[in-house]
Amino acid sequence: MTSIIAVNDSSRGEIFPELTRDVIDRMKDAESPRLREILELVVSHVHAIVREAKITHDEWWQAIDFLTRAGKMCSDSRQEFILLSDILGISMLVDAIDHAGGPGLSESTVLGPFYAGQQRELAAGESILLREEESEPLEMRGRVTDSQGRPIVNALVEVWQTAPNQLYDVQDEDQPDGHLRGSFRTDGAGTFRFRTIMPVSYPIPNDGPAGQLLAAMGRHPFRPAHIHFMISAPGYRTLVTHLFLDGDKYLGSDAVFGVKPSLIIRPRLIEDINTVEYDFGLADERESTRAQVEEIHRQRREL
Ligand code: BEZ
Ligand code: FE
Repeated sequence: MTSIIAVNDSSRGEIFPELTRDVIDRMKDAESPRLREILELVVSHVHAIVREAKITHDEWWQAIDFLTRAGKMCSDSRQEFILLSDILGISMLVDAIDHAGGPGLSESTVLGPFYAGQQRELAAGESILLREEESEPLEMRGRVTDSQGRPIVNALVEVWQTAPNQLYDVQDEDQPDGHLRGSFRTDGAGTFRFRTIMPVSYPIPNDGPAGQLLAAMGRHPFRPAHIHFMISAPGYRTLVTHLFLDGDKYLGSDAVFGVKPSLIIRPRLIEDINTVEYDFGLADERESTRAQVEEIHRQRREL
């Protein structure tokens, strides 16, 4: 039972410390040890924030109202909590923890809310546009390999990007469904190739609580120009990443913290077409930490 006698823990200067202990103790019968571990941390950190910031009733009500409005904003085509996780850097932090990294592997970044499921499969070299756009064409080529540079055959390369009006097809009734999206398969040498247009920078949806929070923090909602990639193959960890255009003015202030130097591309003119050649390295299913990647390299060297 919670006692309110020791309102202050004089040794540590904490307000009402036995409340936190009581909340945590009452989880001792939780079925899942992992859930219990996480909830213990959630309770102790949130209680610590409330104590340290000396949150008032009015401020707590504002927080509850904010989360309520975020929930009401969600629909099949809008996920306000993903936006909140993205703008607060939580999505990138989870990815840094759960993504396989190491030699020969590509870096990952946020999925974002505009992946629309697997799209039509196109032949190598085809365009992902379903209507003409007044933009400069771009040719994307590259290879998908394992961490040792060996080709991965028949990997699925899914790509998506916004139109020049800064909107994805799923946000814009005027665009044909599937415009600027497509899926490709790598060939026997692990290569892929497709046509698109130069991507543009755009604001993330900022007409709801996530946008209000950005404004309250004094931040802009823009993402630097990028093309999304999701690359998968049996036996490998799926890679979710983007390629960002060099020179974009938002590279240093991406609203969702997704930019990594290894993902910045510089198109070169080849036969009058802006062209990017970029190779992606996928982790073996067993590789999830740098140590595991190095161990698998060692085993392969011994074969
Ligand atoms: C995107 O790049 O599609 C995106 C990522 C995070 C939030 C909003 C959009
Ligand atoms: Fe995007």
